[in-house]
Amino acid sequence: MSNYHIKGLEEYFQVYRKSVDNPEQFWEEIAEENFVWRKRWDEVLKWNKESHKVKWFDGAKLNITENCIDRHLYTNPDKTAILFEPNDPDESAQHITYKELHERVCKFANVLKDKGVKKGDRVCIYLPMIPELAISLLACARIGAVHSVVFAGFSATALRTRINDASCKMVITSDGSYRGAKTIDLKPIVDEALLDTPSITSVLVVKRIRSSVKMVADRDYWLQPLLEQASTDCPATIMNAEDELFILYTSGSTGMPKGMVHTTGGYMVYAAYTFKNVFQYRDQDIYWCSADIGWITGHSYIVYGPLANGATTLMYEGVPTYPDWGRFWSIIEKHQVTQFYTAPTAIRALAKEKLDFVEKYDLSSLKILGTVGEPINEEAWHWYNDNIGKKKSPIVDTWWQTETGGIMISPIPYATPTIPTFATLPLPGIQPALMDENGEELKGNQVEGRLTIKHPWPSMARTIWGNHKRYVETYFSAYKDKYFTGDGALRDATGFYRITGRVDDVIIVSGHNLGTAPIEDAINEHPAVAESAIVGFPHDIKGNALYGYVILKETGEGRDHDNLRKEINQIITERVGPIAKLDKIQFTEGLPKTRSGKIMRRILRKIASGETSKLGDISTLLNPEVVEKIIDNTIKS
Ligand code: WT7
Repeated sequence: MSNYHIKGLEEYFQVYRKSVDNPEQFWEEIAEENFVWRKRWDEVLKWNKESHKVKWFDGAKLNITENCIDRHLYTNPDKTAILFEPNDPDESAQHITYKELHERVCKFANVLKDKGVKKGDRVCIYLPMIPELAISLLACARIGAVHSVVFAGFSATALRTRINDASCKMVITSDGSYRGAKTIDLKPIVDEALLDTPSITSVLVVKRIRSSVKMVADRDYWLQPLLEQASTDCPATIMNAEDELFILYTSGSTGMPKGMVHTTGGYMVYAAYTFKNVFQYRDQDIYWCSADIGWITGHSYIVYGPLANGATTLMYEGVPTYPDWGRFWSIIEKHQVTQFYTAPTAIRALAKEKLDFVEKYDLSSLKILGTVGEPINEEAWHWYNDNIGKKKSPIVDTWWQTETGGIMISPIPYATPTIPTFATLPLPGIQPALMDENGEELKGNQVEGRLTIKHPWPSMARTIWGNHKRYVETYFSAYKDKYFTGDGALRDATGFYRITGRVDDVIIVSGHNLGTAPIEDAINEHPAVAESAIVGFPHDIKGNALYGYVILKETGEGRDHDNLRKEINQIITERVGPIAKLDKIQFTEGLPKTRSGKIMRRILRKIASGETSKLGDISTLLNPEVVEKIIDNTIKS
């Protein structure tokens, strides 16, 4: 039996039992047998339940890039590490071998050093899905700089907030990006963000779309010429297991996005372990995750998890719809992809189109399919299973979060049975508990409650950058000694888990995690707006779409509501990004509030979803009369 690679259900149960009975011994064995450490740990787990500080493999020394790159140079230097498929199907794919990756990461790391980046400094990465994105993460890790990737669809304001929160020293960006038939300028967005970012000393710019950009003297540098002069020799900086590897921002129910901090050793062990098992990765496989590296999925399952296993990981620059709706399937055929990992929202969008787009391609290389980011509905699951997997590829519905660093609940192919809409069983080392409204754990099966995790796991976020208090409040104050996920879940009669969705004010739109607060703040900046509230409502493709209730300062006749709606979405695009635009905007004279003045989003959610018969008791509201008015003016289509 191997703890590292689980191959059957019985083995899963044995390994799982071991991981719960003795978590420290379990993770110690995995860490010892499958990674390169420069020095061994003094202690496997330190868990301080008062301060909520957790340390894994404390005292150990390593560099994650030695595990992701250098060690494969001895065994497989010419194997493709990163397979890059460009946006334009006529541009050739790039096969970056482990040897080449090593050289490119070392050169890039030397450029960072040359520009003054040191161990512990934060580097903001704002790049499209081109090889330089993956390489820049690894280059930071090579020298112990902490990367903070900001998804390149975010606006200048969102970028600035994140740069300032982590006091980044440098930004790595490109002139622009290709997305389908469009080219998007990125450098001007960075320039706007940098109008007020005192910590930034330099900007590295990758040339991709060859647009003409403005370069600020003594701040902005084209990357390519610097790389040409850089040495390919860059010894890895030896890090402590608990040194920060990266910061990645995620939305909260309220306030600023939270800079989740992930550290080196535990994150590496867990990302690699879960990649191996959930995707049953074997040497000759071509693995493809279609997420963007701007999200945690890309960090853990495009870059670190696959590379730590010496895998070939495919990176696709473009969109699923270019040049037509068959692009994903054409890439699978072209590169003989064996594992394909994507989001339910993409599946729903592709399932709407004619099957001709799928049937044109030979998908017989596929062995395993995956989904992540939001619940997958039964219809989409079956479409994926029937038409893409041809009923022979198990679908792994993987539940996890930016905060968890790696997949937490998921089937293990060929071991766990798959059931549509069920993430099924916890992976080894993960101890879920469902809680009721009174804070009691729901024991036994056939129960539904709030999902928590009872015991630390190696890749859990250690803190929120600069705000440990908020970390404790957000994740550890609802239930004693348990990590609260913010999700609801049920456990069925056989003990399988189904995630039922967020129980807080986070809304998942097309797999993107959006907090209501920053969007409402953006809307409220419109001079005509007095107050606003955002809720999610079910949407065929996006899973959820956003519905905004807006109170205007002056109502009066003659206001051009359509124009106001456009302006509101424009502000949201500028402040947060286009992914946060509202599908429906209803102007209203009031919002239902509790007597303490809190907006009752639960009621607004029901109204937006057309469930007006299920509002429950509204008599305790401060202003029950507004509910009727809101219902009368609901926007239906
Ligand atoms: C939230 C975390 C994990 C990487 C991408 C999202 C929802 C995630 C599933 C799933 C149902 C899911 C949860 C979670 N979610 N995966 N398989 N089934 N819901 O990371 O942006 O941090 O969002 O996504 O609500 O809390 P994230």
